[in-house]
Amino acid sequence: MPKPSVAPAATGITSILNESRVFKPSKDFAERAHIKSLAAYKKLYAESIKDPEKFWGRLANQELVWFTPFKKVLQWKEPVAKWFVGGRTNVAVNCLDRWLDTPIANKAALIWEGEPASDGRPGEERILTYKQLHREVCRFANVLKRHGVGKGDRVLIYLPLVPEAAIAMLACARIGAVHSVVFGGFSAQSVADRIADCGAKLVVTADGGYRRGAIVQLKKNVDDALNLRDAQGKALAASATAVIVLRRCYNDIHMQEGRDFWWHRELEYVTADCPPAKLESEAPLFILYTSGSTGKPKGIFHTTAGYLLGTKLTSRYVFDLKPEDVYWCTADVGWVTGHSYLVYGPLANGATSLMYEGAPNWPEPDRFWRIVEKFGVTILYTAPTAIRAFMKWGDEWPKKHNLRSLRLLGSVGEPINPEAWMWYHEVIGGGRCPIVDTWWQTETGAIMISPLPGVTPLKPGSATLPFFGIQPEVVDEQGVEVPRNAGGKLIIRKPWPSMLRGVWGDPERFKQTYWTEVPHTYFTGDGCRQDQDGYFWIVGRIDDVLNVAGHRIGTAEVESALVSHPSVAEAAVVGRPDELKGQALVAFVTLKSGIHAKPELRDELRQHVAKEIGPVAKPDDIRFAEGLPKTRSGKIMRRLLKQVAAGVEVKGDTTTLEDFNVLTRLAQASE
Ligand code: WT7
Repeated sequence: MPKPSVAPAATGITSILNESRVFKPSKDFAERAHIKSLAAYKKLYAESIKDPEKFWGRLANQELVWFTPFKKVLQWKEPVAKWFVGGRTNVAVNCLDRWLDTPIANKAALIWEGEPASDGRPGEERILTYKQLHREVCRFANVLKRHGVGKGDRVLIYLPLVPEAAIAMLACARIGAVHSVVFGGFSAQSVADRIADCGAKLVVTADGGYRRGAIVQLKKNVDDALNLRDAQGKALAASATAVIVLRRCYNDIHMQEGRDFWWHRELEYVTADCPPAKLESEAPLFILYTSGSTGKPKGIFHTTAGYLLGTKLTSRYVFDLKPEDVYWCTADVGWVTGHSYLVYGPLANGATSLMYEGAPNWPEPDRFWRIVEKFGVTILYTAPTAIRAFMKWGDEWPKKHNLRSLRLLGSVGEPINPEAWMWYHEVIGGGRCPIVDTWWQTETGAIMISPLPGVTPLKPGSATLPFFGIQPEVVDEQGVEVPRNAGGKLIIRKPWPSMLRGVWGDPERFKQTYWTEVPHTYFTGDGCRQDQDGYFWIVGRIDDVLNVAGHRIGTAEVESALVSHPSVAEAAVVGRPDELKGQALVAFVTLKSGIHAKPELRDELRQHVAKEIGPVAKPDDIRFAEGLPKTRSGKIMRRLLKQVAAGVEVKGDTTTLEDFNVLTRLAQASE
């Protein structure tokens, strides 16, 4: 790695990762891409920023099917945005009906691969064409209607990653109900809290879901959720009066007469004729809960037309989606990535979207590569945490399969360390696939900063440049843009169509969290640096930025340095209060298979970090661990690691933790 440069900034955020490799797009890719040159991108970008309303208005007319055309592009009364005012449309119509009289009608909308059986027998496979998916969505929408669900009612979806999850989402969209998908790995308590927060009327679940050969008791969790009571003895989830149950695992469950109904039985009472609701542009489409700095779940909500436009355009241009692509986003529908880039974005483009139900290492660590080969996947969109796991499992697994169908790779969820980027590029992409490192958030609805493949020269670890119509800036405490190469807070200057419209039921929290930190702009919560070429380098959440002896250091950068050591599989760095330095850096490190945690290795790693990014970033303490505490979406739970590092009892919400035992082992290892 090149020599680090430590650039102090107005905010005191110091960005010390300096990666100088540049990968130019190949001519071949560029010639065939939707957008063919950097000049074309720059021209369109400049146009979009000069007059965003004109730009978005033109695209909304061109790209979306409207029942009633909109009268005004944007009505902005900070922090409340109304896009495409006066227009009426429907997301399900834009994703399905519009393809019915075209050659796309009989192409695969969804390709689904089920989890393989525990004895290694292949999983089930289902393919739904646009016509079939449309029919299933209409039928299920009629089921919802039969149960009294209508426009504006909330529906909680708690399903495994099966086609019915997409069907249920689109069915809600069709009738104007608001869905809130809760990831199947969440507990009964989380389900109850979310039902209570949004007042969901109906729950859609399954008897069970498969997870590494075991059955996750989804229906049982819903039963428990509906029985939970608050301190006053009142049922927490009292608003939910009906439960539709999909039969997936045939496990033994309890069906409560009058409340619980089998999905397949309900279909017997309905037809496939369901006229779509003509919804206002700003009709809420979904609520998705995300963790905030407090324990209370934060219901981020998105609306109809703007969200659809944002996901449609970014899907097409960032993934360069073509009719012949087999596109695979590995996220679960329980996360925003699953909403925007597994369901809505691809379907709005008439693309083929692949869904895989299971884990990447079940039954063996080549599961993903097997699927890529089997279906001839052309575009793969996954997360750095998965990529690092694959690196750890070894190159032999991808090498067993023919991955030549791949033409484009994507990354999302956290900064990708250059080491993982290079591995992804070489071992998975065979050196020929561009990587789109896409920066965005649940709140932004769609990708905000990302390379365009075939266009943007790539720098490993940088999300590069903004998407059309998006104006990100790196600013100081006063909201003033900092000079190039200085660190600061990442903000977005102007409203954009797919932005969140609020925190469900809590406008004050919406204002406080996003619109007060830097006046009159949207605050992302991320630290960032823009380099001399204007490329954005995300340093991580501001919360994860530590002040060590007067230097603010992004933990992600230290982690990246640690992971570039040949022995290290994964690393998480947190702060521990320190009398001398303010904060000391504590690194939790997991080693690659076959490497032993020898005491000398600690010193070696500290020296390695010092060499990579300077002595200021040298961890004070390195703790070897078998595993790190993660949420089920793979985010390291730093809050918990901080408590372990500080040697205090681990307290607070641990319900989103994937494997609780990890904590016990970590605490023991530290003694
Ligand atoms: C946070 C948002 C976006 C869908 C999945 C996560 C981090 C996300 C990147 C990236 C660096 C990234 C940011 C952001 N993040 N993508 N490409 N490079 N950081 O959604 O749970 O709402 O998390 O994830 O810190 O703020 P989310």
